[in-house]
Amino acid sequence: MSLRCPLCHNALQAGEKTAVCAQGHSFDRAREGYFNLLPVQNKNSLNPGDDAAMVAARTSFLEAGFYTPFRDTLRGLFAPLQATHLLDSGCGEGWYSTELGKTAQKTTAFDISKETVKRAAKRSRDITWLVASSQDIPLQDACVDVMTAIFSPLPTAEAARVLKPGGHLFIAAPGEKHLWELREALYEEVRPHQAEKWQEELAPAFRFHSEAEISFRIELADNAMLKNLLQMTPHYWRAPRERRTAVEALPAFSTQVNFRILQFCKKTAS
Ligand SMILES: C[S@@+](CC[C@H](N)C(=O)[O-])C[C@H]1O[C@@H](n2cnc3c(N)ncnc32)[C@H](O)[C@@H]1O
Ligand SMILES: [Zn+2]
Repeated sequence: MSLRCPLCHNALQAGEKTAVCAQGHSFDRAREGYFNLLPVQNKNSLNPGDDAAMVAARTSFLEAGFYTPFRDTLRGLFAPLQATHLLDSGCGEGWYSTELGKTAQKTTAFDISKETVKRAAKRSRDITWLVASSQDIPLQDACVDVMTAIFSPLPTAEAARVLKPGGHLFIAAPGEKHLWELREALYEEVRPHQAEKWQEELAPAFRFHSEAEISFRIELADNAMLKNLLQMTPHYWRAPRERRTAVEALPAFSTQVNFRILQFCKKTAS
């Protein structure tokens, strides 16, 4: 095990029922199998992360398979790396972690939202599921070969700390045209998503490896699935209410999806 205590940063030994550090800090394993390693003082709200409705909508949408080609692309990139230890940061309900974990000997996945981790833990007993923050990842230094953050926040210093030298970091983010037609229906004016400038931020500890883009069209044949898509995105709250209500009433919808996958390599000591 490569866990570390979120309170004192000593190694954490995980057993069947509890995880304990040398200082005697102890964390119970939840019934679903995960450990909650998010100290109360690191929570900035009572239930941080995505809320239950958002999580339920995302689960239904992902399980319907609309993003399977994207997940398969990621899996294709991970498989040749034959990771000893894969880490999925901000894993949500684990739809990606479970599949991507098949490319690695061992997988750890965490999210700040207890609601999502509870759902994720039901997917697989082979993955170490944690409630934790990416601001203070409860893993020891240099223990991860492949790390991914899929549509989730990525504190670069923590990524650099937990990855082994030569380890791979994959960031998946919306491309310029992601959900273009949906955004056209929701906003007066639609602008291409601004590409985040990861290169600059990661440069001190990482070497840029490559960028891949994947685009395809999704056909939402019923209103329930359209509502799921709407509810799992920030547009649900951001869009003007009138426009959102009009979109929510549509019987079906078709939109393009567009993802960017950036790959970086942790520098080896020079
Ligand atoms: C858009 S969701 C993506 C979830 C999953 N990767 C997916 O694509 O299905 C973003 C996730 O990041 C999580 N999150 C937000 N802040 C976080 C933090 N500081 N540490 C860990 N997870 C965080 C949220 O709870 C949410 O599950
Ligand atoms: Zn401790």
